[in-house]
Amino acid sequence: MIETKNLTKVFKNITAVKNLNISIDEGDIYGFIGPNGAGKTTTIKMLATLMRPTSGTAFLGGHNINGESRQVRRLIGYMPDFFGVYEDMKVSEYLEFFAAAYRIRGPARRRIVKDVLALTDLEYKRNELVQALSRGMQQRLGLARVLIHDPKVLLLDEPASGLDPRARIEIRELLKELQRMGKTILISSHILSELGEMCNSIGIIEQGKLVFSGDLETVMEEVRGKGLLFIRVDGDCTEAADAICNHRFVTKAEVTENGELFVQVSSKAPNLSFVSEALVEMGFPILAMKEEEVDLEDVFMRLTKGVVS
Ligand SMILES: Nc1ncnc2c1ncn2[C@@H]1O[C@H](COP(=O)(O)OP(=O)(O)OP(=O)(O)O)[C@@H](O)[C@H]1O
Ligand SMILES: [Mg+2]
Repeated sequence: MIETKNLTKVFKNITAVKNLNISIDEGDIYGFIGPNGAGKTTTIKMLATLMRPTSGTAFLGGHNINGESRQVRRLIGYMPDFFGVYEDMKVSEYLEFFAAAYRIRGPARRRIVKDVLALTDLEYKRNELVQALSRGMQQRLGLARVLIHDPKVLLLDEPASGLDPRARIEIRELLKELQRMGKTILISSHILSELGEMCNSIGIIEQGKLVFSGDLETVMEEVRGKGLLFIRVDGDCTEAADAICNHRFVTKAEVTENGELFVQVSSKAPNLSFVSEALVEMGFPILAMKEEEVDLEDVFMRLTKGVVS
């Protein structure tokens, strides 16, 4: 549904996005992750046809952002990372205003405004001033706005920034609901933990370059293997590490600072149970064993070097 081809943006003295190649399937929730200044907003603006690439291009639903901007715009809902100022406009007027901009008229307009207010849980605020809404409500209103013309693709630049945990969960539920409605969603963020729970696919960008793009499960498995184990053995831990590290399904075995045996199991291994069996067979009875959880935060830390442009 979204395909970038060597997408590049150079500002005067800085390459904000460099030869970006990402591919997002229909129905995906794609997490676009990177530290401040990595090039997320620049990429999203190019996809939204609000900024021309220096070189390369992208296709949304088969339409080229270079030259087919009208078709692309009909397909997308873009939510910027800041909320504009709309003095003295009520919530319903704000949505009517954007519906009118999409040439939606009369009863259809009233129906659509009602629908998007219901979807974003803002019906009870319809007569409030936009400026009087809390940040979380403004974010939901921003989402309501991009849904007015029923776009197939949503480009959301940090929709969860500045929200409290509850508001973030609400946004997350809303995005899942939109996915169920068949939308393809690209969402940028540097808050990782919440993306892990809603994205099926991620891209990590740093200094304008893609570090990783693909299936979330795959990247997790790459970092974690089949599993990371911490084991206390009865006997010399160093000898146990030397013995187990030759096993074909063990990618790493070492002694930790507190004298435990650390074992990383290859993603090719059918399960984890062979580790304890092999250790016992080699004469190292097991006193305790626990598996370490790996979350998206760990993946991010391992894949990025923490440098910013
Ligand atoms: N209009 C512009 N003119 C010059 N440089 C720009 C412009 N817009 C962005 N940049 C630079 O391009 C780089 C990428 O910026 P971008 O806003 O895309 O990052 P980001 O990943 O969205 O960061 P953040 O997490 O802070 O939103 C930065 O170094 C930024 O200073
Ligand atoms: Mg940004």
